[in-house]
Amino acid sequence: MTILDMQALSSIELMERHAAHNYSPLPVVAASAEGAWITDVDGRRYLDCLAAYSAVNFGHRNPEITATAHAQLDTVTLVSRAFHSDRLGPFCAALADLCGKDMVLPMNSGAEAVESGLKVARKWGAEVKGVPEGQANIIVADNNFHGRTISIVSFSSDPVARNGFGPFTPGFRSVPFGDTAALARAIDDNTVAVLLEPIQGEAGIIVPPDDYLPNVRALCSEHNVLMIVDEIQSGLARTGYTFACDHWGVVPDVFLLGKALGGGIVPLSAVVADRDILGVLHPGEHGSTFGGNPLAAAIGTTVVAMLQRGEFQSHSARLGEQLHERMRGLIGAGVVAVRGLGLWAGVDIEPTLASGKQISLRLAERGVLVKDTHDSTLRFAPPLVITEREIDWAMDQFAEVIKGA
Ligand SMILES: Cc1ncc(COP(=O)(O)O)c(C=O)c1O
Repeated sequence: MTILDMQALSSIELMERHAAHNYSPLPVVAASAEGAWITDVDGRRYLDCLAAYSAVNFGHRNPEITATAHAQLDTVTLVSRAFHSDRLGPFCAALADLCGKDMVLPMNSGAEAVESGLKVARKWGAEVKGVPEGQANIIVADNNFHGRTISIVSFSSDPVARNGFGPFTPGFRSVPFGDTAALARAIDDNTVAVLLEPIQGEAGIIVPPDDYLPNVRALCSEHNVLMIVDEIQSGLARTGYTFACDHWGVVPDVFLLGKALGGGIVPLSAVVADRDILGVLHPGEHGSTFGGNPLAAAIGTTVVAMLQRGEFQSHSARLGEQLHERMRGLIGAGVVAVRGLGLWAGVDIEPTLASGKQISLRLAERGVLVKDTHDSTLRFAPPLVITEREIDWAMDQFAEVIKGA
């Protein structure tokens, strides 16, 4: 294909022909973005109510974060972990402090953080807990979503995520989310960890019963099992607290973080835990060429400093009330149920009205971007810089779409 041919085709046509079809995006082609708004190639503006699945919590091109990125681009961006950089130490110290832990293992994607957490748990099981090599089991929740690697889809309950990708990694047991008794029954002498999303995101923003996470914490402590919490989507101010776990006063042994940690600019993820856990890793046992690179570390340090100020958390809590109140007002008028905390809402649409995808398309026509999950559920997760007026406007559009469906 010549350059002229390429120019004649739209971005969407080029994607159709030359990109793997592993997503089914809405037909909106972003050309620029700022704050809570995305502008497409034809100059149409859309209020972003997805925030790249929480990776853009601080808004598109947040000026504090882009200033850090620009400055770092002019100094040093990548040295690998073969050498030190002057950015990684301060980042690890700041993030460990935010989590109230000792140490950080920096990685890139969320799935990598999850994989790394699983490896750490198995090694901890073998070296500290004394579980015989190859015998460790890790307990997960039904309908989890932790990423797309072979080991992670090995314990997914979604057939679409699994079919055709076997053979799978052994060593996982899945129990119903929110069911303490089922979790207690699944734990045995070889259990090294329980891995959970504190609020299940992809499953439809499922908030567990109030006693669940405190019970999981107690069971893990009682049986010397690591409580690993995947806060990759729920964390970093999304729900009105720094971590979703904070709603229940629960402190896990291991935090898995990603998405917003990279400020919406670079992939940056992390496993955060105390020294008696992360200390099981020694040189050569785990790594990543880009993990903790100076550009990502500089951005991550700015993100942590912004979170330490607390304003994103309180904004999310306050505007979350407004979002949920407006959503609940539509129950009975096309909406069946509303779940979530802070600026994170899962909304079940009356299935006979339209599919979630159809509602998303109609909302996009009105300038509001959301994403469906599981047929008739919509996810609202706007950047945390969204204003009250913007939420009201988005909810007006939503009400109109539901009414016309
Ligand atoms: C809870 C959770 N964990 C892990 C991941 C995987 O993150 P990534 O897509 O960066 O690999 C996601 C992505 O949506 C997620 O929501």
